[in-house]
Amino acid sequence: MSRRRRIYEGKAKVLFEGPEPGTLVQYFKDDATAFNNQKKGTITGKGVLNNRISEYLMIKLNEIGVPTHFMRRLNMREQLIRQVEIIPIEVVVRNVAAGSLAKRLGIPDGTQLPRSIVEFYYKKDELGDPMVSDEHITAFGWASPHELEDIMALALRVNDYLSGLFLGIGLKLIDFKLEFGRLWDHDELRIVLADEISPDNCRLWDVRTNEKMDKDRFRQDLGKVEEAYQEVARRLGILAEAATASDTASSNVTSISEKE
Ligand code: TMP
Ligand code: ASP
Repeated sequence: MSRRRRIYEGKAKVLFEGPEPGTLVQYFKDDATAFNNQKKGTITGKGVLNNRISEYLMIKLNEIGVPTHFMRRLNMREQLIRQVEIIPIEVVVRNVAAGSLAKRLGIPDGTQLPRSIVEFYYKKDELGDPMVSDEHITAFGWASPHELEDIMALALRVNDYLSGLFLGIGLKLIDFKLEFGRLWDHDELRIVLADEISPDNCRLWDVRTNEKMDKDRFRQDLGKVEEAYQEVARRLGILAEAATASDTASSNVTSISEKE
């Protein structure tokens, strides 16, 4: 991994030059951060699991016609992606009040929202990713009105599809964050889904117990962080079918799977 040219290093991923022009290799780290980098830690095996979970979800979304940057998984921690021009906006879709929305508006955690709500945050670590409106986005030219329309429509489609997919495995999709990029496709500039979709950027609660099965376990020091990521992967059918919940939780999935 060190011989390749490093294009960008983020908090949870590294991007390397890909084998062909217009491609990149996306490497998933075990590093975890929260609250704009104030809390730092490692979630053992997270990179391996997020690589698999994101691969699975991106393929599914591709199948229903949501264009994504994903090409194929290369190994346990890397996937080949199309190089896109990232739009500097984090798109958050919420179905149930939690996290910053619950805090900002004083709505109890777990309150069903009257309808799905889409929010935008300007991707700027120095400013702590401030919330912005569509007016800021188009006025400052971060995305055109037409691109923003595509982004909204795609985000809501992803929400509908993933809400159903997760409900099918006993998980409520509370909220999640997406990133989009621009890609030249046959002389046309298209908006495609980029980054990753994993328990790092989704809130997933068990339908029966409301147990949190996502990065909030790390953010809030709830313990059993690795196990929650493993359980999501297991329910998606990504971890060995034979493994039971308790097997999976007590075995070191990383050391097994990284031999691949
Ligand atoms: P929030 O409630 O903290 O605003 O988070 C909303 C959703 O977005 C939640 O599923 C976590 C995700 N998220 C990220 O992926 N990255 C971030 O930097 C933040 C703040 C949230
Ligand atoms: N990943 C973000 C950070 O480190 C925030 C979060 O996911 O809570 O700042």
